[in-house]
Amino acid sequence: MTDEAKLAATAEAMAAAGKGILAVDETSPTCTKRFNEFGIESTEESRRAYREALLTAPGAGDYISGAIMFNETIRQSTSDGRPLIDALGATSILPGIKVDTGARPLAKAPGETVTEGLDNLRERLDEYREIGARFTKWRAVIKIGRETPSLYCIEANAHALGRYAALAQEAGLVPIVEPEVLMSGEHDIERCREVTEEVLHSLFEQLASQRCLLEGMILKPNMITSGSECPVQADTDDIAELTLNTLRRHVPAAVPGIAFLSGGQTGEEACKNLNAMVSRGPHPWELTFSFGRALQHPALEIWGGKAGNVPAAQSAFLHRARMSSAARTGAYTPVMEDESPL
Ligand code: 13P
Repeated sequence: MTDEAKLAATAEAMAAAGKGILAVDETSPTCTKRFNEFGIESTEESRRAYREALLTAPGAGDYISGAIMFNETIRQSTSDGRPLIDALGATSILPGIKVDTGARPLAKAPGETVTEGLDNLRERLDEYREIGARFTKWRAVIKIGRETPSLYCIEANAHALGRYAALAQEAGLVPIVEPEVLMSGEHDIERCREVTEEVLHSLFEQLASQRCLLEGMILKPNMITSGSECPVQADTDDIAELTLNTLRRHVPAAVPGIAFLSGGQTGEEACKNLNAMVSRGPHPWELTFSFGRALQHPALEIWGGKAGNVPAAQSAFLHRARMSSAARTGAYTPVMEDESPL
């Protein structure tokens, strides 16, 4: 198999029928924030224990094709001493790694950020591949405000995503390319569509000029929704129509999979919206999920930092994984939420 064919095969496995990607790659400060919301102490050991519970939940591999981890997690082991990455392999979940180092203030653009992490990226990618990673993630953050985003911010982030994607592919790792337009704000859904269009336009221009293999990547976009503080909230039909319309205009059919982030939607909302989009198929690409909060939130609350709660937390996680998998095939209905035992 050529290197290109290997990348394409991995990307296709990440977008496999009925499965999606678990994002459990919160940095330690973000994980601490999420833990604190439920009064859970955040230590290296508590983060390890929580991630072990999710990554080794029995049967998760039926719904989850890949798991994106943080640098700390990919080096950790299960409580019985197996490297977590090996435990994942046993369930056929592909291991992935977040490689950006976060959004930092963009020079001369007050209030806007550019995602960093290109320094020594080639060496870091080689190390992650040696550890066993098969894919990577980089998240750009675009915030909608009265005067933002600027074209400068969109282009700086798209350029960095292109550099990252090319380096990841050169290292034999599939890049998840994530240009997230944040939900937070008072903007309406039309403004979200307009900004997302500009972002995707700039991104695919950069991916082409930086020689990225479209068949060997996964796009991780936001759904097109009303801002979370907008007084008028668009319904599922509008979200599905506008998101699909925008993706059809800007995402080449050569991209094998589009895996949505949840972005602050509840698990139920994210599933309803994904289901509505899948139901309008067939589409040129696989539509799936790469949820963080929408897969984890109930499980984290139930776990609460207590070892005795692990089985119940795993059930809650598996429930959300099963619902997301149903949405990814167009078979989800809200009634299913009550049918599945917790
Ligand atoms: P959310 O689904 O919680 O938005 O997280 C997905 C993700 O990986 C953001 O980078």
